[in-house]
Amino acid sequence: QKEKWLANQYLYKINGFWLLDYFVPGISRTIKHFRPLPSDVILASFPKTGTTWLKSLLFAIVNRGSLELLARNHPHELVPILEAQVYGSADIESCYNTTDSPGSRRIFSTHMAHQLLVRNLNSSECRVVYVTRNPKDTLVSMFHFVNKWKIAEKEALQIEDAVDKFCRGVFPCGPYYDHVLGYRQESLNNPKKNLFTTYEDLKADPTTQVKKMAEFLGCPFGGKDGDKEVEEVIKSCSFEILRNYEVNKSENSPTWFEVPYNSFFRKGEVGDHMNFLDDEKIALIDEITRIKFHGSGFNYGI
Ligand code: A3P
Repeated sequence: QKEKWLANQYLYKINGFWLLDYFVPGISRTIKHFRPLPSDVILASFPKTGTTWLKSLLFAIVNRGSLELLARNHPHELVPILEAQVYGSADIESCYNTTDSPGSRRIFSTHMAHQLLVRNLNSSECRVVYVTRNPKDTLVSMFHFVNKWKIAEKEALQIEDAVDKFCRGVFPCGPYYDHVLGYRQESLNNPKKNLFTTYEDLKADPTTQVKKMAEFLGCPFGGKDGDKEVEEVIKSCSFEILRNYEVNKSENSPTWFEVPYNSFFRKGEVGDHMNFLDDEKIALIDEITRIKFHGSGFNYGI
């Protein structure tokens, strides 16, 4: 199944998920070749739910003696995306060297649904951290992000179209709800291996969430300087600090996608959807959220 996304770009439905044509080969190669090491950390997320923030936080938690690297490297270069930087090229040999990592422990990210990556993830004792965000802010963040893509110069994404596609699940990596529920279920089945967190919880209480992630990864903040170290990590990864580094303000695009590096830092707030969605659209998304998350024990209080 195939549906137009923007201009001449298409989404393909593969195993229940809509994948952007551009990433399909990298996704197939990831499924075929990726064998995580037991020490690997995999950050999984639906696009625009806080991936960039979590990349910097996980990098900082694992490499807390090298926080200065965050000032010189975009988080997307410190933590490569499996289906883009790592397995994006047809010439596997020329792809990111999976034994080479800027930090002490390999950290990768992926937007692939758990349902697509389950065999790879379960082939080792690696740790999986999933971040999600409320659907309305995710959608609005994506709306802005897509309109920064090179392809949007040919045809901009309209908010009505974005809402319609999101609600039908015909959205890059969508349906959002199936993506969230896949990792949510896994975190309930196997909490030692899978940690489920939210953008909103991180905003509300970063100290508790960062400590939890560090414990989950087997590198807790201990000793008399533990609390100070946690606060340093949080500050180093804050929106205000990160967005002002030259690497993160750059108009250049990474090699793996035509979008400026600075488009990963927009507003960084909870609730911005209220400035872009009218009451009707909010009611529609809330109704779908209620139905889709029904019985899951997770519903954003909607
Ligand atoms: P907004 O568009 O709402 O501002 P992703 O990293 O998954 O692509 O998500 C991007 C969203 O996370 C954007 O949201 C972006 O501004 C926000 N973001 C990026 N870095 C952040 C940080 N350090 N703290 C909080 N939010 C951040």
